[in-house]
Amino acid sequence: MATLIVYMTSHGCAEKAAEMIRDLMPDDVTLVNLEKFETPPSEKFETVIIGGSIRIGNIQRKIRKFCEKNLDILLTKRTGLFICCMFEGDTALEQFNSAFPEVLRKNSIATGLFGGELEFEKMNAFERMIIKQVANISEDVSKFNEKAVREFAWKISDA
Ligand SMILES: Cc1cc2nc3c(=O)[nH]c(=O)nc-3n(C[C@H](O)[C@H](O)[C@H](O)COP(=O)(O)O)c2cc1C
Repeated sequence: MATLIVYMTSHGCAEKAAEMIRDLMPDDVTLVNLEKFETPPSEKFETVIIGGSIRIGNIQRKIRKFCEKNLDILLTKRTGLFICCMFEGDTALEQFNSAFPEVLRKNSIATGLFGGELEFEKMNAFERMIIKQVANISEDVSKFNEKAVREFAWKISDA
């Protein structure tokens, strides 16, 4: 079985999640950072996992476009969807729901809210200002949920 993992990241958290999933899957996995190149979800792939991170309420535009452009074919695959974000609970779920088309969410075997990380040395001055103003945070924080990533990978492997 071949699996395609398509992701985007700003500071590495969604990439860490994508790499963890790759390492936990028994399949032949192709990992693609959409920022660098695009691999279509071709016939070769039985499973397609798509993930990104949330900034100012939105997932990366290229992730949205990838889902829209390939929606018909994605609906014929086993799919998994995930986000990295700092908000938790209902807000995280709302962000997840607005990140991916409803029909794709409903068709997916696994969905993941993996938490997030804020690392100030990776941010530019504008990002630091936003985080300080909006969240009143000025020190590194990690809410990355490795357990949720493992459960996601097991779920999609077992289904
Ligand atoms: C400028 C900026 C804006 C952000 N906006 C949000 C947001 O609207 N909602 C949220 O839950 N997290 C937000 N975050 C937190 C990111 O989702 C979190 O840092 C995540 O781990 C980023 O993953 P990445 O490194 O893969 O891009 C923001 C972070 C930054 C730096």
